[in-house]
Amino acid sequence: MCGIVGYIGNSQCFPILIKGLHRLEYRGYDSAGVAIIDAENQLKLCKSRGKVAELESFCQSKDVSGTIGIAHTRWATHGEPNDTNAHPHVSADGNIAIVHNGTIENYNVLKRALMKHGCEFKSETDTEVLVQLIQYIKQNNSCTLVEAVTESLGQVVGAYAIAVVDRNTPGTIIAARKSSPLVIGIGDDATYLASDATPIIDYTDKVVYLNDDEIAIIKKDEPLRVITTDNKPSNIDIQTLKLSVSQLEKGGYPHFMLKEIFEQPSTIEDSIRGRVVNNRIELSGVNLNRSKFVDAERIIIVACGTSWHAGLIGKRLMQDFARVPVSVEYASEFRYSNPVISSRDIVIAISQSGETADTLAAITLAKKMGAFVYGICNAVGSSIARATDSGTYIHVGPEIGVASTKAFTGQVTVLAMLALAIDPGTVEQLSKDIEALPSLIKETLKLNSTIENLSSTYTYVHNFLYLGRGYNYPSALEGALKLKEISYIHAEGYPAAEMKHGPIALIDHELPTVVIAPNDDLHDKIISNIQQVKARGGSVIAIVTKGDKAIKEIADHTLEIPKVAECLSPIIVSLPLQLLAYHIAIKKGCNVDMPRNLAKSVTVE
Ligand code: G6P
Repeated sequence: MCGIVGYIGNSQCFPILIKGLHRLEYRGYDSAGVAIIDAENQLKLCKSRGKVAELESFCQSKDVSGTIGIAHTRWATHGEPNDTNAHPHVSADGNIAIVHNGTIENYNVLKRALMKHGCEFKSETDTEVLVQLIQYIKQNNSCTLVEAVTESLGQVVGAYAIAVVDRNTPGTIIAARKSSPLVIGIGDDATYLASDATPIIDYTDKVVYLNDDEIAIIKKDEPLRVITTDNKPSNIDIQTLKLSVSQLEKGGYPHFMLKEIFEQPSTIEDSIRGRVVNNRIELSGVNLNRSKFVDAERIIIVACGTSWHAGLIGKRLMQDFARVPVSVEYASEFRYSNPVISSRDIVIAISQSGETADTLAAITLAKKMGAFVYGICNAVGSSIARATDSGTYIHVGPEIGVASTKAFTGQVTVLAMLALAIDPGTVEQLSKDIEALPSLIKETLKLNSTIENLSSTYTYVHNFLYLGRGYNYPSALEGALKLKEISYIHAEGYPAAEMKHGPIALIDHELPTVVIAPNDDLHDKIISNIQQVKARGGSVIAIVTKGDKAIKEIADHTLEIPKVAECLSPIIVSLPLQLLAYHIAIKKGCNVDMPRNLAKSVTVE
């Protein structure tokens, strides 16, 4: 979802801004643009619908010289993706340019008021309202840019990360955030700005994460200054990034998604490292807050998308091993559901990006109501990681492909460890099973070429059904989500036994069903479910434990996975599901890393 890049220093900023926008492409967007202030304090603006590469070629014939600039990738919220609605937006007098992530909820009220004062608008965006407001306040109050930005933000209801430049305030970028991330990179003779650290890592590992309600005053030849929106100086906490450029590249794979699928033996190893000690699970977040976990009356998991699916598996794990009641809520529903929460509740927020707006809002609400909030995040230093009381990082490295793969398996692995860590006894067999995961994943990934061949049979179907039971009912939901996200084939995940209460009506020879059927307590039951599909002419792709003869005889295709503890089986079965979605999408010619309309980091409601 929208991305911001900014640069101020002595180098030409255009190539730095463009490289930064490329780094943010994974977030999902539909237009892009840059605004540059040159040596004569002229404001140069270039923006276009489409990819960053299109912006680059559009700018080839243009003068884009200058050493101060802001840039943006836009994921449309207010107004369709076109050149006019693309950012940066410029004030009517042509002096001030802004890029903005988030949404300004009261933009209509502000717009009407500005129109009464004669302001004219070019775009349909909420962002243009903000830049016009800044200009109006600056002009009418004869104040500085930072004062005008501060005053304008005081009138705004909503979420934002912004960067602003002004021809009449040379050598300055003003940046501010509320509920939408911004990172400032401190170089030797330049300062960088971005929505996350990926555009910055090429130049410096020293960063400052802006907090909510903070405004940064970034000047060319002065140290960074940060103030709060009520004009008090803020502490500047410079942190060191632990991110390498190679983690942001494809490493010989054709797509980030495939790279990330194949990275899973090592990412799960990283998730586990140092946490399985002498047949016990040691998580510092749990150890430091043991009494909270011991006294917890209830655990509520909040998350969105794939992280919510991981949460469903987490519920089962925690109920089985920690014997505590767990509910799993979509963060977007939770926040508006008038939830009953007490100080004896633990809220676990799961998020790969650590920036999902709904999850962040659910955390704020839970904390306000007295709950202890525990985060399971991937992005180190992200808003959710910082907003939670404690937590565990999944440590799978940056996930660039929009469809979550290695983050999902990392989340489930951490949830399994969390469930076992809450009860501090020894868990000899299960800790061995967890330690065996990387090699089981490696073995399972050998299915790749079989799945690639199989995908040809299913490239052009219009619908898919995914069935699973117990621990693997959420796997069915996740398998279906993966397929629809990247191949645009409609797919539904269902608990296998629920099929007879509706989806069975859909089954015919045109509807393939993926059945997740490893050898577990419900194996016999799921065989009956497969027979019900076969009896109605449906074809079945079954994911089974190696050597499963019974299902092999009835299913059209079987994908054999190694034997794995039932509670960890969602991790292993997710691999063939990821590969199936990937190969079908590739055969259809889809852009698997940046599927249409989707965003990697959903920073708006
Ligand atoms: C988006 C992404 C999904 C992700 C979801 C939640 O929809 O495309 O892959 O599962 O957001 O994101 P989070 O970063 O909070 O896990």
